[in-house]
Order: sequence, then C-alpha cells, then structure tokens
Amino acid sequence: RKGGFDHYMQKEIYEEPDVFYRTFNSEIDPDFISELKSAEEICVIACGTSYNAGLLFRYLMEMHCDTPVRVEVASECRFFRPRRGSVVIAVTQSGETADTIAALNMAKAFGCTTAAVTNVVGSSVTRVVDYSLCTRAGPEISVAATKSYTAQVAVFMSVLRELCNGSIKEDLDEIHKVIEDALLVDVSEGAEMCAGASDIFYVGRGLYYPVSLEGALKIKEITYIHAEGYAAGELKHGPISLLCEETPIVAVCTMDVSYPVMLSNIKEMKARGAPVIAVGTEGDEDLDDVADVCIYVKKSTPLGEMLAVIVVLQMLAYQSAVILGRDIDKPRNLAKSVTVI
Ligand code: M6R
Repeated sequence: RKGGFDHYMQKEIYEEPDVFYRTFNSEIDPDFISELKSAEEICVIACGTSYNAGLLFRYLMEMHCDTPVRVEVASECRFFRPRRGSVVIAVTQSGETADTIAALNMAKAFGCTTAAVTNVVGSSVTRVVDYSLCTRAGPEISVAATKSYTAQVAVFMSVLRELCNGSIKEDLDEIHKVIEDALLVDVSEGAEMCAGASDIFYVGRGLYYPVSLEGALKIKEITYIHAEGYAAGELKHGPISLLCEETPIVAVCTMDVSYPVMLSNIKEMKARGAPVIAVGTEGDEDLDDVADVCIYVKKSTPLGEMLAVIVVLQMLAYQSAVILGRDIDKPRNLAKSVTVI
C-alpha cells in the first residue's frame, strides 16, 4: 500500500502536486463566499498543523482583503468570546479533533456562521457546521500531516481567489510543476546537520513565519529534536542568547519583499556562531556567501515558491528522521486524531 515508498509520510509528500491541483481546482460554495463578504470578522480555530494553515490564511488575507482575520488555538477558545457577526472557520484534517469541535459548538451558541475545512467528508465536524469546504488530499495515514496541510493551503488560496477577485492569478500547471520540482530538491546536507542537533530554530518573515512554525512542528514531531519556529525579527528579543555552534537555524530567505532584512538576520545569526541552513530561490549567489548550507527552490511566483518551500521543509524533517531511524509514520506518544479534550 506504500506504493514503493519506504514510509507513508514520503508517499503522501509525493502526492502533493496532484493534491494541490485538484483542491485548488474545486469550487467553493458561492453562498459561503457571500457570508464572508458580509462578515465583520473571520475567526479561524484549529490545532497543530491545521492552526499553522489558518495562520497562513491570515497573512494571505492581510495581503489582499480588508476583512480582519483572527486565528485561535482551539483549546484556548473557551477563554475568548466570538464576536457577533463573525464567520468561524474550523480547520481540521480528521474532522474529529475534540477541542476544535468544542470551540465550534461554542461559536454556534453565540450565533456565528460556521464552516469547516476538512479532509473527511461525513466526519463529526461536518455535522456541526453551516458550510463544509473539502480538502481533496485523500486518506492520510502518516501521523504527520503533510498533504493535508498543502490541501488546506489550497482551499484558503481558492477562498481568496473567490473573495478578492484577481488576488490569486496562479497558473495551476505551473504550480503543479513547481511542487513537483521541489520533491527533487536535495536536502541531504541540511538533514545531516539537523539530525545531529538537539535544538533547531526555524525562522522566516511574512508568509514564511507560519511556514517556519509548521517546519519546526514537523521536525520535532518525527525526529524528537527540540525545534522552534520564530518570526525572524523576534529572535533578537530573547532566543538569540541560545545561539551557538550547536544550534542550527533553518532560515527561509526567498527573494520576496523580506529578502534584504532576512539576509542581514542570517548574518547576525552567523555572527553568533550558529550554523545556517538557508532555503532560498535558485540563482541567489549572495545566499551562498552567507549560509553554511543552501537549499534552493525553483524561481516562481511568491505563492509558487512558498508551496515549494513547504514541501522542502517536509522533506527536510522526513530525511532527518530517516537518518535517526525513527518510527516515522507513528511517532511516539502521538495519535492521528485527538478526540479527547
Ligand atoms: O485532524 P486535525 O487537523 O484537527 O488535527 C490537528 C492536529 O492534531 C494535527 O494537525 C497535528 O498537529 C499533526 N499530526 C501534526 O503533523
């Protein structure tokens, strides 16, 4: 059933070009889009990887639309009251996460319109919400979420396409190719460096902040190495004191608007002795000069490059776990879906 792959996680990462294509291509209920257009606020609730996808949606919305977006960890929702007039979107691969469903029920009790972005048609969450938006990832066996995350990002990109006309002008065939190319990127040197570490920081700015959170979650979950995702600018406000020769940094530094400041952040990290694994855009020779290991994705649109970086970070986590001989598809202490509060 693994189709020639060593692990389900690897197989599921390789499915991502097609998963993105079919999810982004699917229709979004026009009534849901109308609800969003008249919403005073959108509130996203989720856990783990699904939360990281929600945070990415917030950044995408800020870039293209006026409606404010809040993103809350589902287990903390009982401490906040949803605003009247909010549309509450639960993001959950399994559709069974207890905290997410509890938060959704609370939002319903406050009279909010509710929706779910889920991978499982007919799951518990779909019976609670007003609208269901399906990720078309197919069954995900590995505990680590990979293709379902990319599919969640695809749903959010298609919501944006419908909501803010003209905001997303991606060529789907081109994106398919960009994600496919990302699967072939050599991450072995970076994986060797990560596998030998006890602590790793993942940093990025803008869209790459939530992407860094997800990169860190992925590697800690399957390698058991302590990893933290940070907004690159936050490093100076505390964690920089931890940097030394033993703490590699995975710094996402593609040639987007944050490029110059990211490059100078990398120099600051290097000055503290930290080895830097930079993930950048192919053809960037300046990055070669400052980082210890460079992992390049193909030049594309900003969103195309972001999707490629997501895949590269998943591969980095996967290969690090292979080096360490971990039980990749079933990491210790974890369940695929958390059905208790
Ligand atoms: O099924 P859900 O998306 O609601 O699950 C939420 C988290 O438990 C899940 O995303 C978890 O963080 C992943 N297994 C991480 O890879």
